Amino acid sequence: MNLWEYAIDGLKKNTSQPVDSIRLFFSPGRVNVLGEHIDYNGGWVMPCAIDKGIYAAVQLNNESVIRIISQSHTEPCIIPLNKEIRATDFFGWQRYPAGVAFQINRIESVKQGFDAYLVSNLPEGSGLSSSASLEALIGKIILQTSAITTISDRQLAMLCKHAENDFVGVQCGIMDQYAVIFGKKNALLMLDCENIVHEWVPFDSSPYRLLVIDTQKPRTLAGSAYNERKMQCDKALEQLQRVRSIQNLCEAELTDLQHLDDYTLIKRARHVITENKRVLFARNSLLEGKFIHLGELMYQSHASLRNDYEVSCKELDAIVDFTRHHEAGLGARMTGAGFGGCAIALVHEKGLELYKEQLQKFYFYLIGSACLIYEVQPSKGVHEFLPA
Ligand code: GLA
Repeated sequence: MNLWEYAIDGLKKNTSQPVDSIRLFFSPGRVNVLGEHIDYNGGWVMPCAIDKGIYAAVQLNNESVIRIISQSHTEPCIIPLNKEIRATDFFGWQRYPAGVAFQINRIESVKQGFDAYLVSNLPEGSGLSSSASLEALIGKIILQTSAITTISDRQLAMLCKHAENDFVGVQCGIMDQYAVIFGKKNALLMLDCENIVHEWVPFDSSPYRLLVIDTQKPRTLAGSAYNERKMQCDKALEQLQRVRSIQNLCEAELTDLQHLDDYTLIKRARHVITENKRVLFARNSLLEGKFIHLGELMYQSHASLRNDYEVSCKELDAIVDFTRHHEAGLGARMTGAGFGGCAIALVHEKGLELYKEQLQKFYFYLIGSACLIYEVQPSKGVHEFLPA
């Protein structure tokens, strides 16, 4: 059975509704190719949606309730539509769908209930944005099933972000939600996080393959340390605004660092300023067909995240160092918030099998556990799947 069939089968077994008109939806995960910890600092990021994600089979019901069952969780998520949706009534993964329903409901009343069964091949909590993928998926299903046309994709991305900020309590930026909604096949998204506008940059990595390498290290610190980094950046901006008229930290220059009074703030701001510039360099390199530059920018990005932003870990560093020294490796870096999760690498197809085999051995030897390696492609964002 493929994943659609699993989703349909799961729905049939778990709904009391007559399954006469099942609709299918897919929402991808994302990797960020460059521009890490930049979205909440108002700069440029370069992510893409990937061909791994969450598959949903959906059937309308007549019960004024959204009932979501996920193959990955024992507890279902049940959202009543005839009373107030409150964060305190939901736990764990349920807060993402509930948060999105709450946000949409603030703008357009959601009346149409549905039953949905979800099946995923996107590992959770590994930095591939399974949460943004879930938010966008539920958002898209609500909009399509309730025929709400007044909320644009851009607005949906912002509502999903607010759902995560307010219902889940992670002060994330807009990148993940935007990427899983606006992803496009064979393209990277060049997103201006200050003005929330984007363009697509064609991405033909051939003969290099884009790999995701999952450290399988749980990102336990991610929530609290993430919010701490954001607070440090806000503080750095506040200090710089006393001497410069800037709206966000990405507008600062390296020469401005002298105005910061604390070495930690200097390091955080230095990462933000240099990383934002790397994204702009990468865009030009890709448009000029100088693909090889991208690899070097990825290594530089990783070094800055490790030394200045301090969000890497020995597992991620091991993968990046290995790739740098492997003859098939063009570039590698951690992707997402850090503290575990995944790295990405560009690897020449000729040496690919050897690279994978040797990396697995090296990683096991150094870390004492296995890493997982997947090949991914830049892919289309969340959508209703209409079989041909
Ligand atoms: C997480 C957040 C994003 C972004 C990245 C770091 O994935 O959800 O908004 O800040 O970390 O670039």
